[in-house]
Amino acid sequence: MILVTGGAGFIGSNFVLDWLAQFAEPVLNLDKLTYAGNLGNLAALKDDARHVFARGDIGDGALLTRLLNEHRPRAIVHFAAESHVDRSIHGPAAFIQTNVVGTFTLLEAARAYWSALPESEQGAFRFLHVSTDEIYGSLGADDPAFSETTPYAPNSPYSASKASSDHLVRAYHHTYGLPTLTTNCSNNYGPRQFPEKLIPLMIVNALAGKPLPVYGDGQNVRDWLYVGDHCAAIRAVLERGVPGEVYNIGGNAEMKNLDVVHALCRVLSTLKPGHDYASQITFVKDRPGHDRRYAINAAKIRRELGWQPAETFESGLTHTVCWYLDNEVWLTNVTSKTYQQWIDLHYAQ
Ligand code: NAD
Ligand code: DAU
Repeated sequence: MILVTGGAGFIGSNFVLDWLAQFAEPVLNLDKLTYAGNLGNLAALKDDARHVFARGDIGDGALLTRLLNEHRPRAIVHFAAESHVDRSIHGPAAFIQTNVVGTFTLLEAARAYWSALPESEQGAFRFLHVSTDEIYGSLGADDPAFSETTPYAPNSPYSASKASSDHLVRAYHHTYGLPTLTTNCSNNYGPRQFPEKLIPLMIVNALAGKPLPVYGDGQNVRDWLYVGDHCAAIRAVLERGVPGEVYNIGGNAEMKNLDVVHALCRVLSTLKPGHDYASQITFVKDRPGHDRRYAINAAKIRRELGWQPAETFESGLTHTVCWYLDNEVWLTNVTSKTYQQWIDLHYAQ
């Protein structure tokens, strides 16, 4: 089996669902179920014995040791993290605790488990660390896209915590020989994304007739990747990636935020017509330290592992909006009291 951390979150749950749809191999899913973790994401697996769920913290070394020795995974795919930049600005401590200390604790448990494996199994073991393009910092309009050799320059508490975790993973490969793989991916979107992130937040607000809050001048650029394509890339890296290597993953879809929001309004107007959603666009105070542009050069993973995205931004966005329109109950459940508290705190100004 494989051990997935953070498998009740957005990308982790899509990964677990895709994995079990394609392979017979079971998944042990360790998740703390923070505000971002949701077992409703995994409802389709409720009668599937191949999905073993354990509620717990990656910072709990004793729990990790017990789970590893009991379930004997051949690989760890590490998604668990605090993932929202705005929350890291309001409260960075949780990001240091989970992303840095949690990843360190997981690496220590993995190292002890891996060291005790028979030599034949040690070579095949993998620790795949899922990271972000934000660790590279911000690009100017004409700068070349981030490659795997771009120097680290994180600018937010979130990206600094992810950069720290990347460095720890690198060090565990170089120092101890742990067979690690690191992926640095651009902005994901798709089904089951918590509506604090740009695309699902805009869908929720558009449908509720609320303002669509665009930060600053709306000209910040992100590269967008459909979550199913990210999951396929992770499977390719897990299967064929070279231990110690880093792989950048991107969607070849650089877009300004304002253009993303307009594209979303157009899709909504087609699928749920009768309303001018774009009229709800409102410019609000900018995010402090807001990175201007991210762009990914994904030539290495394409060349070496044969991966490239299957979805265009247009097709992925349509799937995404359809999913949110079809999953009202999911949406009602996640936009509960604690969600409202976040919206009130963050968008009050
Ligand atoms: P998410 O916030 O939706 O989910 C995170 C999951 O981790 C949740 O289920 C949460 O309960 C769990 N978790 C948090 N702290 C934990 C802890 N201490 N112990 C165990 N579980 C814990 O995040 P996501 O968007 O799915 O991102 C997953 C990973 O991918 C993160 O590492 C993130 O940095 C990375 N990533 C995200 C994106 C993106 O656009 N969302 C892009 C590139 C990389
Ligand atoms: O680049 C990968 C990263 O993408 C991941 O590592 C992070 O986990 C993920 O959250 C995401 O970070 P961003 O900060 O880019 O995503 P977010 O959806 O929060 O914002 C996308 C852009 O939209 C960003 O420029 C800020 C802007 N924005 C966001 C929100 C929530 C707005 O203009 N208004 C908003 O209300």
